[in-house]
Amino acid sequence: MSARPVWNRVFADTPRRPYIPAVVWAGDDDARIDRTVDPDAWADAVAADIPLVTQVDDGTDVGHMIPTSSASMPSLVRLMLEQLDPRTDQNVLELGTGTGWSSALLSAALTEGSVTTVEVDEQVAGAARKTLKDHCRTTLPTMVVGDGLEGHKEGAPYHRLIATMAVRHVPYAWVEQTTSGGVIVTPWGNVYNNSGLLRLIVGDNGTASGRFVGNVNFMWARSQRSKFDGRRFVGDVISDPDTARIRHTLTDPRPLREEHADFAIGLRLPEVEHRTFFGRGDRAEEFTVWYADGESWAAIDYKPGVDSYEVNESGPRDLWREIEAAYDAWRAQGEPPREQHGVTVTRDGQWTWLDGPNGRVDIGPTRT
Ligand SMILES: C[S@@+](CC[C@H](N)C(=O)[O-])C[C@H]1O[C@@H](n2cnc3c(N)ncnc32)[C@H](O)[C@@H]1O
Repeated sequence: MSARPVWNRVFADTPRRPYIPAVVWAGDDDARIDRTVDPDAWADAVAADIPLVTQVDDGTDVGHMIPTSSASMPSLVRLMLEQLDPRTDQNVLELGTGTGWSSALLSAALTEGSVTTVEVDEQVAGAARKTLKDHCRTTLPTMVVGDGLEGHKEGAPYHRLIATMAVRHVPYAWVEQTTSGGVIVTPWGNVYNNSGLLRLIVGDNGTASGRFVGNVNFMWARSQRSKFDGRRFVGDVISDPDTARIRHTLTDPRPLREEHADFAIGLRLPEVEHRTFFGRGDRAEEFTVWYADGESWAAIDYKPGVDSYEVNESGPRDLWREIEAAYDAWRAQGEPPREQHGVTVTRDGQWTWLDGPNGRVDIGPTRT
């Protein structure tokens, strides 16, 4: 019978702990915690409402320490499943098996339905397969090793599709493989800002459309990672930080760092990456934001108590001017929050909007 899962029961019956490997990285500094060395610290991390990195650098030892698989934060897993809103007899596709915990939750929820889960990394998929076999108390999900950006045609159509890795473009295959009226939930972002949780409803005209419903931060789908990953931002990406055009601006950089402003600037300058570095000691309030697109870069210095800020720029684009223009365009719209924006996906591509599919987002400054 078609009913909504009782999530409290599903979570109570499906604890996270058995799905977490012996070594995880957690906290702001991604500290390594090994269960065999410090079982209490491991147990505390597993019980906390925090994400746990479960693989770095695709399981290699290159030493970049870039998270490549994780167990998401429990409250976020719950939010995403609630947004997915499946019925107990539906067919669900999950992309990004990771530890297998969310696959187990879905399997426990869909008492008369079915779950297929796709993981791109063979090693991660193998570990999840074993854990699910040992601990999943309900019908095992169908486990597939492959590129989730292609969905999984063999099991389609799906009533619900959930991705647990971030995409810059929603693949049209996902829309094609979801029933009309079905729901797609996915982390969505761009190089500038990767914080959108997008909820799309598939229409009967072959398109899908919907709003952002939350603030998340997921690792990228493997083939959509930043080209700057594994490189020092200032030093490698910006190899000439001392050679620049210098000018001053009256724009205070602090409000641009606010989450909704940052999101809105990202919609307008999706290919620009940025990082903020704070001062130390008695200069802890000072910071520099660096922006780069791989060819041009800009840096703005914030110092308290001044009303004009130094800007350094290099390359063919005046990146800081473009950032200011994108910020101004968002302010002119009344500073709408992330959740007032949405995305429409068609066979020809996707586009972002404000207040409904007809209010296309102004892409901001004209580039020269
Ligand atoms: C945040 S983790 C998944 C969390 C997981 N659902 C859990 O409960 O543990 C993201 C996973 O997506 C996988 N992934 C990345 N790109 C992928 C792709 N194109 N297709 C399928 N899986 C992908 C990563 O290898 C990683 O294991």
